[in-house]
Amino acid sequence: MEKLVFINACIRREQSRTLGIAAPLLAQLEKRYTITEIDLSQRNITPINAALFHTRGTAGISKEDADWAKAVAEADRIVVAAPFWDMSFPSVLKAFFEHISVPGLTFENNPDGTTRGNCRASKLLYITTRGMDIPTESALDQGTPYLKALGWLWGIPEVYTVAAWGMDVKESSQVQKALEEAVLRGLQLCEDF
Ligand SMILES: Cc1cc2nc3c(=O)[nH]c(=O)nc-3n(C[C@H](O)[C@H](O)[C@H](O)COP(=O)(O)O)c2cc1C
Repeated sequence: MEKLVFINACIRREQSRTLGIAAPLLAQLEKRYTITEIDLSQRNITPINAALFHTRGTAGISKEDADWAKAVAEADRIVVAAPFWDMSFPSVLKAFFEHISVPGLTFENNPDGTTRGNCRASKLLYITTRGMDIPTESALDQGTPYLKALGWLWGIPEVYTVAAWGMDVKESSQVQKALEEAVLRGLQLCEDF
């Protein structure tokens, strides 16, 4: 079976609405892919501070980071689930990307100064929920454009977002409806993912 890496940044875990959308989608994808989960709330991911920056410049990245970068680079599909925080996604996810976005692993620097993506995956699915009424790809959604840009760097041409929004402003019945619609859209997308 082909490989799928699931990057889970749903810090609220079983309370997470985002994970509530992701779970049935992953259950469908599990029939076609061997799934490896990277659960960011279970890992101690520090931002790239001065000490880490200098270590990376001399000794290189840690074995753990290299292993995760390799797993991501070699995956046939990538799924990211992350709540919408401060107009994009939680910083632990950005920190994780910085840990594994490494030349020679997830991308290459060409001699002419350009870069080339090094990831095998042709598709990435980004699942999120937003508290405010912020539709996907509106100017205020800074999660989707970031993941598209990262897809460009890593060589993943197709980046899809499945989202529900208005989670903290809609009535509970409307929240439920928006979540169910997102699951349906996601399941449809997963048929051809
Ligand atoms: C620290 C934090 C920051 C948030 N920032 C935003 C924000 O900038 N915009 C927004 O629409 N919702 C924001 N929210 C609300 C969440 O996006 C919303 O509750 C979402 O459904 C949470 O997803 P989860 O249930 O998967 O944790 C924030 C929530 C938290 C806890």
